[in-house]
Amino acid sequence: MASSISIFFITLTLLSTTTPSPTTTTPSVYKVLESFDFPIGLLPEGVTTYQLDNTTGNFIVNLDNDCTFTIQGYQLKYKSKITGTISKDVIKNISGIQVKILFFWLSIVEVVRVDDEIQFSVGIASANFPVDGFYECPQCGCGFDCVNKVKGEIGFKNSVFFSYLFGN
Ligand SMILES: *[C@@H]1O[C@H](CO)[C@@H](O)[C@H](O)[C@H]1NC(C)=O
Ligand SMILES: *[C@@H]1O[C@H](CO)[C@@H](O)[C@H](O)[C@H]1NC(C)=O
Repeated sequence: MASSISIFFITLTLLSTTTPSPTTTTPSVYKVLESFDFPIGLLPEGVTTYQLDNTTGNFIVNLDNDCTFTIQGYQLKYKSKITGTISKDVIKNISGIQVKILFFWLSIVEVVRVDDEIQFSVGIASANFPVDGFYECPQCGCGFDCVNKVKGEIGFKNSVFFSYLFGN
């Protein structure tokens, strides 16, 4: 079992101190997210269509294309089809969203809002991020850094820190 992951821990801090002016129109799927108490930034720009079953909360979100972006050196991948079940403050049974840890793409299976934090779970572990890091939608390709690429201090403002421990 040399390669089993025994503990996995992510910490991310995103502090948004500047507010780039929004130039794109916001499709209603982002309003749906807000109606369930989630910030719009859980989805990148580029959602084309979505379906939501009111009674079950099962949803399908379609993007133009697969969408990958890097935030401070860590990659997230949104497939062109994302499914899951949404209810207030809980999105579960998610498929189509992955985070790359070291050499591995791990599926984010559950996203839960707890007060002012968003908790992402990859199944074996979870990590919390401040909700104010998600008030804007990341863009495919450049994530949150499309506008703010100035002054060289961004690395200190937005820090992402992943650590992991491999057991034997
Ligand atoms: C679905 O939910 C929306 C918003 O709560 C509501 O306006 C609409 O009537 C619902 N549709 C059905 C079929 O229940
Ligand atoms: C979870 O989602 C898959 C599709 O990705 C679906 O087939 C399955 O029925 C869902 N499970 C539950 C418990 O909703």
